[in-house]
Amino acid sequence: MLRRRTSVPEAELELFELEMLGGGTERRYRRARPEVDALPWGTIDVSHHAAQDQLDARGHWTLAAFQEQRTGAVCAETVRALLACRAPLDLVAVASRFPLDEVVHVELCARVAEELGGGTPIKYDPRRLAPAPDRDDPPLLQAAELIVAAYCVGEAFSVPVLRNTWHAARHPLLHAVLGIIVRDEAAHGAFGWTFLDWAGDSLAAYRTRLATIARAAIEEFTQNHHAIAKQADSTVGRDLGWMEPTPYLALGRRAMAEHVVRPLQQRGIDPYAAGIAEAARDLA
Ligand SMILES: [Fe+2]
Ligand SMILES: [Fe+2]
Repeated sequence: MLRRRTSVPEAELELFELEMLGGGTERRYRRARPEVDALPWGTIDVSHHAAQDQLDARGHWTLAAFQEQRTGAVCAETVRALLACRAPLDLVAVASRFPLDEVVHVELCARVAEELGGGTPIKYDPRRLAPAPDRDDPPLLQAAELIVAAYCVGEAFSVPVLRNTWHAARHPLLHAVLGIIVRDEAAHGAFGWTFLDWAGDSLAAYRTRLATIARAAIEEFTQNHHAIAKQADSTVGRDLGWMEPTPYLALGRRAMAEHVVRPLQQRGIDPYAAGIAEAARDLA
């Protein structure tokens, strides 16, 4: 069963900081994803925004970079599990692109935070960046647990939210950054369903367990919604690249129901079946 993150002593946490090696290594990376450097960097002027809004924006984009880093770790773990269970090569090949996509998203979000005045401090436990499946479980189940949590819930939920944010973003740099992320995430959002449809009845014995994993992931992705509901709407998000509370929560509810819960239920995995909520709480 996927291990959830547990709290660790403050002294064992590390600061989320990033660097580039440069030279030939960076050139190879740039050749693989030339669209990153081609963006209109250096064009955001936040001086007309209130100091608190600037700080909120730096915090928002730093957190986005960290979440992309976490997702990249899950995507890499997923590739290992897919190889272990001898998933079809083309399915593994498609999934192999995702860790690079997420690294690109980390760089994009971190560079936006820099443009806005610099990243804000995030402490994290590097030993638990990604959830780890039990290595004694069948490899197919390990892959399924990772994919249900990260792709069928996480990526499928975030695609419509990101697409809406991209459409609303008015600044050319933020619009272009979100455009790259949305393009990549569309493929990530579809991947989980392709995997489940391939695995089919091989996962029949594990559907309750996968429903529990899905429910725990849904709770994790929506746990900040109560706090968001107490925030006031403004136009700052549209200027600086995120959705305001009211439209975010409305779209988030719809995205979860239509893009996550319904397609899971259609595949026999019901995160809202009797007893699943209790089982998901026990996982946390
Ligand atoms: Fe991403
Ligand atoms: Fe992704």
